[in-house]
Amino acid sequence: MGGDNHGDRVSTAPEKFIALTPELHHYIVEHCSGHDLLRQIEERTARMGEIAIMQSAPEQAALITVLVGAIGARQALEIGTFTGYGAIAIARALPEEGRLVTCEASEEYAEIARRHFAEAGLEERIELALGPALETLRGLPAGEFDFAYIDADKIGYPDYYEQALRLLRTDGLMMLDNVLLSGEVLDPGRDAARVMAELNDRIAADERVEATMLGISDGITLARKR
Ligand code: DHB
Ligand code: MG
Repeated sequence: MGGDNHGDRVSTAPEKFIALTPELHHYIVEHCSGHDLLRQIEERTARMGEIAIMQSAPEQAALITVLVGAIGARQALEIGTFTGYGAIAIARALPEEGRLVTCEASEEYAEIARRHFAEAGLEERIELALGPALETLRGLPAGEFDFAYIDADKIGYPDYYEQALRLLRTDGLMMLDNVLLSGEVLDPGRDAARVMAELNDRIAADERVEATMLGISDGITLARKR
């Protein structure tokens, strides 16, 4: 495994992937562990209209719960709470005395999320930090978090990435959502796509992490802090 093989990595391996169809995607979701409240939140969020696209995908929520549990995370961080769907996927995999700090800039979304946390019986485990995420992150102690999930405004990702890296312990795990931006990263037009494409390049070449990109939902990067 070449640790110095970064950036424009060209693979000679045979192309091995399948393009998902709606039916295969449905099949995948059906074969992930479910959670009744998360399903209810999916329905409620869907009723909010177009904005519902901001919610993480069900198979991604299942992946989060598996990973957070598998690494034995006790302290977790989320940037971008929205209706609390991802936060619940994280917090329910934490031990009783574990803690999730989730950052949300919108009072309206924070209120919805708080109701969902109470409904999940997880309000003791989840600390919702209302306000600009960067300010919250700058006030947190370095090296104390086991897991960090970045799913907020895309222009802010480079700053959130640096902060999350500072806040994670060695071997801590970071997840970044929307790294493909519906494919826009291949030919960035708007600012958000340019920022995301540049960050993706930077992470692939970043000696501080070991990273993989998954073709789940809108693209997910997983990065372990070395
Ligand atoms: C948007 C944001 C997200 O985090 C996401 O997963 C999908 C869409 C958006 O702002 O459009
Ligand atoms: Mg997202």
